[in-house]
Amino acid sequence: MSSKPRIVLSSDHAAIDLRQAIAAHVKGLGHEVHDIGPTTTESTHYPKHGAAAAQMIADGDADLGIIVCGTGQGIMMAANKVKGIRCGVCSDTFSAKMIRAHNDANMLALGARVLGEGLALEIVEAFVDTAFEGGRHGTRVDMIKALEE
Ligand code: RB5
Repeated sequence: MSSKPRIVLSSDHAAIDLRQAIAAHVKGLGHEVHDIGPTTTESTHYPKHGAAAAQMIADGDADLGIIVCGTGQGIMMAANKVKGIRCGVCSDTFSAKMIRAHNDANMLALGARVLGEGLALEIVEAFVDTAFEGGRHGTRVDMIKALEE
């Protein structure tokens, strides 16, 4: 992965404002951003939005994903059904660093009804700025990958 990973963003209707704030923030940090919507607050279904962002990573069109719904939980569950995706919900910066450093997570899920915008943006920065440590953690991530086969 390059020093500035390409980031895909999606959400459901519960998280439009937070997703757009995150998009602006990561663009400001110099990342290439693919915000795949939705753009209206009309009620929609989080699985399709989580899966669409996950598929972009699986296809090599983005390096990291940030997906948002009311709690982060439903959209995370959907994304993790796509082969090659490792997505965790985080509500603190320590966990956001650790899912990159130890779990090589390629997607972060956030809850727009859980987090204030300031904390959410700090969590996003912790996630995108942390590299996978490899080593013994690589062995364990390989074990996760093997479960998909
Ligand atoms: C939508 O009302 C809500 O269920 C969704 O945003 C999310 O929290 C599901 O996990």
